[in-house]
Amino acid sequence: MPNARINNLEMAYTDTGAGHPVVLIHGYPFNRSLWADQIPALSGNNRIIAPDLRGFGESDASPEPSTMNRLAADVAALMDHLEIPRATIGGLSMGGYVALAFYKEFASRVRALVLADTRAQADTEEAKQTRAQQADKALSEGMAGIADAMLPKLLTPETVSKHPEIVKRVRDMMLKTKPEGAAAALRGMAEREDQTGLLPKISVPTLILVGAEDAITPVADSEKMHHAIKGSSLVVLDHAGHVSNMERTQEFNQAFLRFLSQS
Ligand code: MLT
Repeated sequence: MPNARINNLEMAYTDTGAGHPVVLIHGYPFNRSLWADQIPALSGNNRIIAPDLRGFGESDASPEPSTMNRLAADVAALMDHLEIPRATIGGLSMGGYVALAFYKEFASRVRALVLADTRAQADTEEAKQTRAQQADKALSEGMAGIADAMLPKLLTPETVSKHPEIVKRVRDMMLKTKPEGAAAALRGMAEREDQTGLLPKISVPTLILVGAEDAITPVADSEKMHHAIKGSSLVVLDHAGHVSNMERTQEFNQAFLRFLSQS
């Protein structure tokens, strides 16, 4: 798989398929393998680019906070490297925070938006404090404790009991994350700005997807975005939690493909 020198770091990415470009941005603390079930389904008619964000997967980490703006600038620089002027930008959770930051900074490069299991609001003060503690914990103890604490919030109880293979994939992604990368992303998410005011300014086709049982970015957050983004579509996926693309792969892919064929 290719690597590129992006903003002075080695960035790993997948680039496959041909046609309209679609950039898929993973959440925290995952990597581009989050999209393993989307890439083959979507790349039939589209060119899919899925980076490992800085500090995740096979990409280099950097010590400063991975702010959403910095991560969005990395995505833009990767698009420059690949000579892609404009793309559909899709992100799940933190990837959605990055997608909104990308739209704010580079609206003319966005053909359409896909916002999965994410929200527009910034962190509360309490959430910021928790992020700071988690960042310290990642650096001092590694990712195992963070993975164990996060797992029950990421997946539905049904997925946890009936789909050990999904539990294993999610856990393995988290354990592969570099503690420095996780800490930098936690600090970056804590600093992120409230994008609520951006939503009414979004003028590209937008698909919002969310697991009906998402415990981290609940359906209400997606409904708020749906009401604020003119003409957006909202798809609520039953029997899915926060990692809805893995828990309801077929329904997620169908909604995504339908959207791509219409946008
Ligand atoms: C994610 O899945 O990217 C994170 O859980 C988002 C967050 O912690 O706000």
